[in-house]
Amino acid sequence: MNRKNWIRSPKETTAAAVGFRKTVTYRKPLKAATLSVSAIGLYAPYLNGRRIGKNVLAPGWTSYSHRVQYQTYDVTDLLPSGSLLEIDVGQGWAVGYIGFGKKNHYTSDHTSLNAELTLHYADGTKDVIVTDPTWDVYTTSVLSSEIYHGETVDLTVKPAFLGKAISDKTVRAKLIPQVGADIIENERLAPVEIIRTPKGETVIDFGQNMTGYVEIRVKGRRGDRIVLHHAEVLDRDGNFYIENLRAARNENIYVLGGGEDVFKPTFSFQGFRYIELVECPAELVKAENFRAVVVHSEMKRTGFFRCGEPRVNQLYHNVIWGQKSNYLDIPTDCPQRDERLGWTGDAQIFCRTAAINFDVSRFFRKWLGDVALEQGADGAIYGVVPNEEAGRPLTRVSAAWGDIACVAPWEMYLAYGDKKELEKNLPMMQKWVEYMHHAGPEEFLWLGGYHYGDWLAMDAGEDSYVGATSNDLIASAFFAYSTSLFIKAGEVLGKDMTEYRTLYENVRRTFRSYFMENGMPKEEFPFTEVTVGKKPRDTVRRGVTQTAIVLILQFDLCTEEERPALADKLEELIHASGDLMQTGFVGTPYLLRVLSRHGKDKLAYQLLLENRTPSWLYSVEHGATTMWEHWNSIKEDGTFWSTSMNSFNHYAYGSVYDWIFNVAVGISPRGDAPGYRGIDLAPHPDKRLGFVNAGIETAQGTIRSAWYYKGNDVYYEFDIPKGTVAYLTLPNGYRETLPAGSYRFATR
Ligand code: BGC
Repeated sequence: MNRKNWIRSPKETTAAAVGFRKTVTYRKPLKAATLSVSAIGLYAPYLNGRRIGKNVLAPGWTSYSHRVQYQTYDVTDLLPSGSLLEIDVGQGWAVGYIGFGKKNHYTSDHTSLNAELTLHYADGTKDVIVTDPTWDVYTTSVLSSEIYHGETVDLTVKPAFLGKAISDKTVRAKLIPQVGADIIENERLAPVEIIRTPKGETVIDFGQNMTGYVEIRVKGRRGDRIVLHHAEVLDRDGNFYIENLRAARNENIYVLGGGEDVFKPTFSFQGFRYIELVECPAELVKAENFRAVVVHSEMKRTGFFRCGEPRVNQLYHNVIWGQKSNYLDIPTDCPQRDERLGWTGDAQIFCRTAAINFDVSRFFRKWLGDVALEQGADGAIYGVVPNEEAGRPLTRVSAAWGDIACVAPWEMYLAYGDKKELEKNLPMMQKWVEYMHHAGPEEFLWLGGYHYGDWLAMDAGEDSYVGATSNDLIASAFFAYSTSLFIKAGEVLGKDMTEYRTLYENVRRTFRSYFMENGMPKEEFPFTEVTVGKKPRDTVRRGVTQTAIVLILQFDLCTEEERPALADKLEELIHASGDLMQTGFVGTPYLLRVLSRHGKDKLAYQLLLENRTPSWLYSVEHGATTMWEHWNSIKEDGTFWSTSMNSFNHYAYGSVYDWIFNVAVGISPRGDAPGYRGIDLAPHPDKRLGFVNAGIETAQGTIRSAWYYKGNDVYYEFDIPKGTVAYLTLPNGYRETLPAGSYRFATR
């Protein structure tokens, strides 16, 4: 692909898609033909009206100011001489509205296309047809399209000639072959119910909150319209509810051509479970005309899980669907409102779970590449990648969000054991550690700065976005944690890490003297006031919170002797909160882990099985089919959390599955034999779950761990594939090294 071959429409087309056309003729017998395509915007290629390839929403979402992918398709069978090649291009992420009310801030104010068709002849010669000013440009039936707002398709409009393409010299993005996973259509869901709401709305329920679009197949009157809106939930009266989508309209408008019409958006997608047929001829309102098409990156399912508690099985289902819904080329926070951005914190929290559920190696290879490309010269990592404020200084740099730079490369290494990838990411890890090293007034702590804190924790008041835990404490704890991961990575790669081991010791020591006394976090400590814009941030700064203690225990910021008292304190805080957790994005991922590590499995299971809010099963019992953003997105009385931020498809809290898998089921990949070649096998059974049967497909084969109860006896079953060694520890202390094989044990 050649960067000189970018072309654009001769006319401004605002939100409408344009079609670039070329008639392909050749005279010699053809042996093979390949088509490579990229766009600034999104493209959809057709040969003689037939869609090419399985990719949708191509070329995908990269840091367009740096790079854009192209995809290559085999089109040999589709290409008799005289064929019409048409490539439609819409705005997508690069050119349309993305982020908070802004448009085309990624690279460009117009769409562009770059394509290369290679014709390989039987005689060994070839011709290459590239995009250039000989291509014709036409209007298309896509009259407007926006990621957030939806798409308008009118099949009664005839394509109009706009003129010859013009060469486009404005594209700076480097063209790279596809590195990420393909974005594809996955399962198709049939409606489970057509509802007439109390308000009189006609609503179709697909039974599952998801990401993708509805495909409509109808034969109706030419010129009739079908207009649909999308929603995740109904309100407490059973009416269609879209206020939580904020500015995103999610409106698809279709005008029927009168034949066998098939509609679905080409350059947009929605997050939804329900659609409202705002307009639709009555005779077309039939379940068989509508299918919800699930769209996400192609990832092989690797994990499986089942237990004896149906609500936990539903929770697992919700975790899986949270991932499917938010792994659409980049890890997003949510798929429905005017956001859908690559929030690094959410990705950091969930990446371990993600790599258990699916093979996400390709998915992360691409996205982490963009994280590295967007890293500031000083090592800063912004909250969102691709950065929706491209070109601006990276001011919003937050602990636990920026730590994606160290956490994800290490988690991917544990899961897949790919040293080359780790090596590639090592400079990013180092730069992030150095960023924290120089971020604040104190060399070995990260004090001050802009932070999202213990996002959405409950301990600073029900409607507060940020929990009560001190941001300084969180940031400094993550400074230590990321440094420790960087050291491990460097050691795996045979680097001399002496300097960073010293840094780590200094950070840990300074953390302990600044934030702790007598083995406990201090209640209060001095802090530098931080003002971002006009607002002071971080006004609540407490040291004795559930999250603070969880971080100290999880990140080894305490001594071994201090552990029991800290763990008891954590338990005491949980009891004092009415036996409930108070943790947010920062503390929750490690809470159960820390309890189990300190002999408090009973309490960990109690929290897992809790159904009052905040808890995982609260949403399950309130009908969730995906993870909610807030513990109480729907409150007890059926009202909603504030419309300003209330997603029903936010995977972050789904990270509880890594505790279920690593601890309850007991399978953890080991750093000294990554890619599950070596695993710790240490199940923590509990009668309340009845049984578990779970595992993961690895490069070596399937690893499975199961346990069940007969009376008070626990029976275990393990399958270890060839190429994996398991280091077994049973709850009664029994230890054994297990090579490949199937095993049975029983304990009392
Ligand atoms: C997103 C979060 C994200 C946060 C930053 C929100 O708007 O939806 O999931 O991490 O902003 O605090």
